[in-house]
Amino acid sequence: MTWWRGLAGAIEADVPLADKTWFRLGGAARWLASPQSPADLAAIVRRAADEGLRWRALGAGANVLIRDDGFDGVVLRLDGAAFCSVQGDGERLEVGGGCDMPELTRTCARQGLAGIEGLAGIPGTLGGFVRMNAGGRYGSIGDVVKDVTLVNERGVTERLSQAELGFGYRSSAVGSRLVVSATLKLQRVHDGSVLDRFRAIFAEKTRSQPLSSRSAGCVFKNPPGDSAGRLIDQAGLKGLARGGASVSERHANFIVTREGARSGDVLSLIDEVRTRVRAEAGIELQLEIDVW
Ligand code: EPU
Repeated sequence: MTWWRGLAGAIEADVPLADKTWFRLGGAARWLASPQSPADLAAIVRRAADEGLRWRALGAGANVLIRDDGFDGVVLRLDGAAFCSVQGDGERLEVGGGCDMPELTRTCARQGLAGIEGLAGIPGTLGGFVRMNAGGRYGSIGDVVKDVTLVNERGVTERLSQAELGFGYRSSAVGSRLVVSATLKLQRVHDGSVLDRFRAIFAEKTRSQPLSSRSAGCVFKNPPGDSAGRLIDQAGLKGLARGGASVSERHANFIVTREGARSGDVLSLIDEVRTRVRAEAGIELQLEIDVW
């Protein structure tokens, strides 16, 4: 008997995950579930909890490294229409957790809606953005989030305000809950400056980061008052390789992979970079990416 008997929505067994991540690495999910409504989602989470199964949400796979032996649990993908809608009057948008953020940032910039243009060039879904408070020098998603609807570990729906979400540097109180949707507060500007800013930030990122390579963005968090990229660069580690994974020559906080690489290569390179930065600078780098 299968654990998902009687539940709505597609649940498949032994689904390869590599092609669902930006690294294009790693093994399969024991189960992959694509619920079609928040109610389906809550029911799947409740059943998984009852059965003692581990589960994770996979958005665009832009900030995750899946181990070579895969994930022995339930991977939830909120890629159905019910989770990808954008509704509202412009300045106040209700955005689904599975919504593609590069598309939303571009659309808002074109429509003169200010608030998320600083997130230009960051891949991911709204859910992933909120969970880790994605952002950079020009702002973070938490700055514009008014409230968020979540499904918790027991399959119960909760609504948290911006203050309750406790946004910090690449962190929030979301934890293991799933982001169903969020309300964003934006501002309408009529002079074209939002699009100009979006374009300038996007161009700067393209110049300084290896956006067209297979990577998961910045691998390590910046230590307080410093830059992980600068520290790794200063330790002379650009180009350092383990198997098919190497430290980017363009930005040292990116690990890029080539065809034939394995997750194990990335993990051993991460260890090596940590060891060498610890020896050179006395700083313990913390992972920014999720490793499953
Ligand atoms: N630097 C080097 N060598 C390098 C990379 C950077 O010397 O190889 C120096 C730069 O010259 C600069 C300083 O380090 O003086 C900071 O670098 P950068 O401006 O590239 O910013 P960052 O701190 O490395 C952060 C975010 C990025 C975000 C950028 C721009 C983190 C871990 N990184 O990078 O976010 O795109 O600011 O806003 O917070 C991500 O989260 O995946 C990510 C890439």
